[in-house]
Amino acid sequence: MTKIGIIGAMELEVETLKSKLKDVKIIKKAEMDFYEGNLNGADVVVVRCGIGKVNAALCVQILADIFHITHVINTGVAGSLNAALDIGDILISKDALHHDMDVTIFGYRPGEVPQMGRLEFEADPALMGLAKSSCERVCPDIHAIYGRVVSGDQFISDGVVKDKLINTFHGDCAEMEGASIAHGAYLNSIPFVIIRAISDKADGSAEMDYPTFEKAAAENSARLVEDMVKYIS
Ligand code: ADE
Repeated sequence: MTKIGIIGAMELEVETLKSKLKDVKIIKKAEMDFYEGNLNGADVVVVRCGIGKVNAALCVQILADIFHITHVINTGVAGSLNAALDIGDILISKDALHHDMDVTIFGYRPGEVPQMGRLEFEADPALMGLAKSSCERVCPDIHAIYGRVVSGDQFISDGVVKDKLINTFHGDCAEMEGASIAHGAYLNSIPFVIIRAISDKADGSAEMDYPTFEKAAAENSARLVEDMVKYIS
């Protein structure tokens, strides 16, 4: 049976989805409220995991162990690392990696988690395709592309750091949870996709843009997810 975990880091990334759930049961674990219910005919668990990679990783493991989810979607906002992604556009993950993992001193590639034999965690092609079609259906005016999510426990607001994420990791957007969700999903053999609406450009303008655009961006991503769950089986 299909059960979809939907994770947002912040309340504004999941509040609309939570409000649309039917037959809701709320289960608390690790200070997170897991809203189990029905969204658009699909069995889902919607949860705000909190900000950063540790919160995100814990959340995926709880969804796997306690709720036995079959798919995981991460919805939220991100800073753009790609000139083709403007504020308001949407990035659908092709893969995700940890930009703050650095064991290069022992010959690992920047971002590579030692002894795992992998740099990036690949998103599920079927979920990627469903996300794109939902975007075309419910937000036809929004430009959406596939790309790489790079995650770290840092808010990126400096052009020099941004350039490093582009040149070293070929990231398309930067945020603070996606790679942990991808990593956790990989370890539990659960297909995942990350959907991020762009709230800022991850440079000196981010400090101003992020608070201005985060709510509208988060809602667009959630709107797409609300439609998409109907088609997951
Ligand atoms: N989430 C939204 N914008 C971000 C940024 N610039 N850096 C990290 N996480 C973000």
